[in-house]
Amino acid sequence: METILFGDSAADISSAAELIKKGEVVGIPTETVYGLGADALNEKAVRAVFAAKGRPADNPLIVHIADFSQAKNYTSYIPALAYKLAEKFCPGPLTMVLPKNETIPMVTSGGLDTVGIRVPSHRIMHNIIVESGCPIAAPSANISGLPSPTCAAHVMDDMSGRIAAVLDGGASEFGVESTVISFDSEDTVRILRPGAVTREMLLEICNEVIIDPSILKELAEGEKAASPGMKYIHYSPKADVKMVEGDFLNFREYISVVNSTSVYSLIYDDDKDNFPYNCMTYGNTSSEQAHQLFQCLRELDEIGAETVYVRAPLKDGVGLAVYNRLIRAAGFEVIRV
Ligand code: TXA
Ligand code: MG
Repeated sequence: METILFGDSAADISSAAELIKKGEVVGIPTETVYGLGADALNEKAVRAVFAAKGRPADNPLIVHIADFSQAKNYTSYIPALAYKLAEKFCPGPLTMVLPKNETIPMVTSGGLDTVGIRVPSHRIMHNIIVESGCPIAAPSANISGLPSPTCAAHVMDDMSGRIAAVLDGGASEFGVESTVISFDSEDTVRILRPGAVTREMLLEICNEVIIDPSILKELAEGEKAASPGMKYIHYSPKADVKMVEGDFLNFREYISVVNSTSVYSLIYDDDKDNFPYNCMTYGNTSSEQAHQLFQCLRELDEIGAETVYVRAPLKDGVGLAVYNRLIRAAGFEVIRV
């Protein structure tokens, strides 16, 4: 099939909404990353999403809705805390895992009895939901295992010929996927995947915010993942990614030893002037690093980097999300210098 590349005009958004209504799969910009959208209630369309990504069938899709008030149509129970969180963070980069009702097909929830609900703030995704009249199931629009797409060109690189269309809405605002949380009790949430809604922000509303252990370390053999996505390899470019934790001078010293033509370093902007080896920079602050990370990983592949040493990001605020993506890209190996 030939993949149509739409712009962001009202006419293009309407055409894309029509395709969704007909059961087609469309690449759609959101404020986090680009999603691979389909009617969440149409099993055949949802199967086509899994097929286009090459995604394991037991990894559930997030269901995107226009307003949190619609969450009750797809769930069997919503804790009061979820409403409080929605007031503060919806629309925005937060996904809440709730018990699903029978409206959500098992293919969409990856066989689970829960569903991740998100209210995206991006105008295009919002309008597609409203105009199609469909809740939209959308995983990130990359081939399973590759870095998530943060612009339409990335989606075309991965999905051209596999899906009906892609909407070009420019670069993603945040650059990392939404924060995924579940509810441990009436006042405690658990972060299953860190994102731009940080632990610190959640603590303004919740008594307790638990960081699921799978965020920072590999699951042990046979251990059950609270979020199925956490058991799969993720965000990996072709290059071998290695995470190096330590200050800049020790990092540079380490690279001076391993340096070769196919070795690249991903460092902070402020490091660059004093770094005489192959490198790319990914910003200084955590939000800059979130914004640029996936773009950098894709570019490093394009320039032929075989090994990439990343100067590790900080772990607080949105830095935890950046760290979480990188430690997965690095297969959980951290070099301390
Ligand atoms: O920002 C985002 O969340 C993007 C945009 C497109 O909205 N979507 C996204 O979807 O990142 P995906 O499928 O690439 O990642 C969703 C993650 C997976 O790790 C999945 O296992 C987890 O959320 N997840 C989804 N539904 C879940 C559920 N019911 N229970 C536990 N984890 C769930
Ligand atoms: Mg993904």
